[in-house]
Amino acid sequence: MKYGYFDDAAREYVITTPKTPLPWINYLGNKEFFSLISNTCGGYSFYKDAKLLRLTRYRYNNVPYDNNGKYFYVKDRNRNTVWNPGWQPVKTELDSYECRHGLGYSRFTSLKDGIEAELLSFVPMEDNCEISSITLTNKGDTSAELSLFSYVEWCLWNADDDMKNFQRNLSTGEVEVSGEGSVIFHKTEYRERRNHYAILGVNSKVNGFDTSRDAFLGAYNGPDHPDAVVNGKCTGSMASGWSPIASQQIDLSLAPGKSRTFIFTLGYIENEENDKWEAPSVINKKKAFEMLSRYDSEDKVEKAFEELRAYWNELLGIYHVSSENEKVDRMVNIWNQYQCMVTFNMSRSASYYESGIGRGMGFRDSCQDLLGFVHLIPDRARQRIIDIASTQFPDGSAYHQYQPLTKKGNSDIGSGFNDDPLWLIAGTSAYVRETGDLSILSESVPFDNDMTTAQSLMNHLQRSFNFTATHKGPHGLPLIGRADWNDCLNLNCFSEHPGESFQTFGPSEGPVAESVFIAGMFVKYGEEYAQLAELLHDNAEAERARAEVKKVYDAVLEYGWDGDWFLRAYDAESKKVGSKECEEGQIYIEPQGFCTLAGIGVKEGLAEKALKSVEEKLDTKYGVMILQPAYTKYHLELGEVSSYPPGYKENGGIFCHNNPWVSIAETVLGHGDRAFDIYKKTCPAFIEDISEVHCTEPYVYSQMVAGRDAKFFGQGKNSWLTGTAAWTFVNVSQYILGVYPTHKGLSIDPCVPEDFGDFTLTRKFRGGVYRINVHTNGSQKGVKKLTVNGVVCEGNVIPFDAAVKEYDVVVEM
Ligand code: GLC
Ligand code: GLC
Repeated sequence: MKYGYFDDAAREYVITTPKTPLPWINYLGNKEFFSLISNTCGGYSFYKDAKLLRLTRYRYNNVPYDNNGKYFYVKDRNRNTVWNPGWQPVKTELDSYECRHGLGYSRFTSLKDGIEAELLSFVPMEDNCEISSITLTNKGDTSAELSLFSYVEWCLWNADDDMKNFQRNLSTGEVEVSGEGSVIFHKTEYRERRNHYAILGVNSKVNGFDTSRDAFLGAYNGPDHPDAVVNGKCTGSMASGWSPIASQQIDLSLAPGKSRTFIFTLGYIENEENDKWEAPSVINKKKAFEMLSRYDSEDKVEKAFEELRAYWNELLGIYHVSSENEKVDRMVNIWNQYQCMVTFNMSRSASYYESGIGRGMGFRDSCQDLLGFVHLIPDRARQRIIDIASTQFPDGSAYHQYQPLTKKGNSDIGSGFNDDPLWLIAGTSAYVRETGDLSILSESVPFDNDMTTAQSLMNHLQRSFNFTATHKGPHGLPLIGRADWNDCLNLNCFSEHPGESFQTFGPSEGPVAESVFIAGMFVKYGEEYAQLAELLHDNAEAERARAEVKKVYDAVLEYGWDGDWFLRAYDAESKKVGSKECEEGQIYIEPQGFCTLAGIGVKEGLAEKALKSVEEKLDTKYGVMILQPAYTKYHLELGEVSSYPPGYKENGGIFCHNNPWVSIAETVLGHGDRAFDIYKKTCPAFIEDISEVHCTEPYVYSQMVAGRDAKFFGQGKNSWLTGTAAWTFVNVSQYILGVYPTHKGLSIDPCVPEDFGDFTLTRKFRGGVYRINVHTNGSQKGVKKLTVNGVVCEGNVIPFDAAVKEYDVVVEM
């Protein structure tokens, strides 16, 4: 069952009922100001950091799920009815409803009793505000008497403190109002250590306002029944402590056929320390009025909106495919890349499943996200790499996360995840392959943000590499530390008491527990490190690196193979994890995918066997499960992985992040049919039809889909902020469609199903435009002939030539 449809020409998903199985959200904002907005107008806004600079309040764990947002109420004074363009919070049944989530904007069109409301919300490219332009049209044949009310509830900035520290917070709230309520200023803590405030302004005279929540709603009501709206009259309240809000009331008469548009601006303003006040206790409003004047007419809003559209047109022109499969095209050209950009902006901080107050930027997560957006925003990717590397410890290991505002590492989620260092090589290598910019490698970068320790980025990568090379266990395999990519495989933790965090409890290091997954990573990214060393003409280092890689490769063949698949790990007693010998958890997905894509066991025939085992043991109609059989008991020696009920999360869920590893692995072996089959199973556009099962948004990936053992098999959870976005884009763009950036130039080596048909692709790369025509000739893999600007090219790589700006490429498979 579907709850909407894709409008590819407009690059929108059109939701046709507000009653989706879960809130289906979108993100507004591209630089520093962001909003989350659901299909019922729920959500919140923040500046730069969802935890520390939150503008509007959101209530967690709420019932119903999604019930605080930036709301507009339409009151029909003749009929005495109240409704919202997004249906919530009043939930008056609408005569028609449509929500279009587009790239950086959402548009709602609703009709009730002949009155149409069209609401467009977006964050302009270069400003710290969200614009909500709302047009009311009388489509009926009698004159309408209406009142429009706005509503936002301010958050007292630190979103974490805001929901805990009531003894203080209920006395700190302060506001100012100007223009009889046209602009409401939220200035809590501005008198002391803050030099910023928030505004909600409208480009019109108003007939009333409120700034106190209790006055507007009534002490016993929620936003679904605001007294002021029901009574048709705001009270002019001035908040002092308690919960400040902003609400404006505009009364209007609309003759049949007439429309009126109002532009609301929710903004963030920062003043200089010495320019904070206009008069004693009166904030300096100059910048606020300047901001409001930038959007005080429909023309200005239209222009800002066009800039946003142009930005996305430009970005999405960098990789564009036309194939015979419209679902592939829509994911590759629109939604997958869009989700990659959202993970760039949000990392794992703010979604409807990440509270915005918990996780900041993950070290490993951000490095992997980069793989999906580096082609879109290489300059910002460059900065991101430097930021991440700046938090690395001198011994090459890493904080697991850092806070975006301070860019400093913190240990809230522990450290000592031994896969982390290698992801820095992955990200940097992807950046250099994309851009050819070697200068990043000599950039001076601190350790743990201490500038006195700064060394070249290449030196950081060397320390990453050496960390793994020098932290090996009894079988010559890398030590796992606190965990590897699988956060929940806590082999040194041994937690016995509820409430202990698996991520921080116990020693992070152990001298015995080893990871075959990290071994796969080391083989893959060790080789990429060696290539970077060669580019810097350090052949001795490249040779040393390859010798270290060889040792680990051999160790995997000797101790990391279980007979039919790769072993997952050795625990703290050197017992096998992910082996036939285990009672539960006999096979794990990660090493099968990653060792194969790293090339381990390919020529020995082991990779082929491993992937067969994946197909037999882990595959389901909704994707490939992370392990089997799921753990039915808690295993002290394994940690969090066995804490989840069977079929969920890391205990046998379909963890979408590593499905592409297996799909890529299949392309390495040339199995186009199977690679694509795996791609399709978790791909949103291909499962749109079962939205009632899948539940999460049909235009983006979720972190997890419940596995076969789960009661709700096939149900998605934790949509949007997942490394799945980057890895599926890498898979489909670089391996399935086969356009892979190498240091020497683009390599073309598609691996597709036999019946995939021909396709054309535009790829912008290092200042040149490549127009690539692929004739698949019913073949799954193997390029027989590659012609570039009419000249036949040896091998698969189109040699990069800075002087050539246009490349017409014809590929015969
Ligand atoms: C979550 C984490 C990611 C981890 C994965 C598997 O998605 O963000 O870092 O690799 O879970 O545990
Ligand atoms: C929990 C989650 C895992 C996530 C981790 C991050 O372990 O199950 O998916 O990566 O927390 O802290």
